[in-house]
Amino acid sequence: FLPPSSGSAGGGVTAKDELGNDVTASSYLETHGAGDRSLVQGLKGDPTYLVVTDDGVLDSYAVNAVCTHLGCVVPWNAGANKFMCPCHGSQYDSTGKVVRGPAPLSLPLAQADVAEDDKVILSDWTDTDFRTGDAPWWS
Ligand code: FES
Repeated sequence: FLPPSSGSAGGGVTAKDELGNDVTASSYLETHGAGDRSLVQGLKGDPTYLVVTDDGVLDSYAVNAVCTHLGCVVPWNAGANKFMCPCHGSQYDSTGKVVRGPAPLSLPLAQADVAEDDKVILSDWTDTDFRTGDAPWWS
């Protein structure tokens, strides 16, 4: 799913890998295929999933991995096509929309863009939450 882009918002951060290096889109996509959801360090240092579309490009949204129940980092379960929290069993679909409690809310979104220098930039999601049609609860 490709939500309408809001363009390059200000105040973004460069996504970092586990070693603290900037993530570049071309090298990231060499090792992360279609449908992949893997963690980078995003806004406020939060663990955040970059989303690779079925066409093998980075999607324009990223998913904050911090469970909206009590804050565990939620692993992606590719077999189940869900994010499944190990702490108390909350589940989120492939876009981070909550589908099972006790988590009360969907995982926050971030805007994901690729800069001219190939770096992946994450910025605040200010659009409507395309999963619910509501204003983003986290902003
Ligand atoms: Fe995720 Fe409780 S912290 S279900």
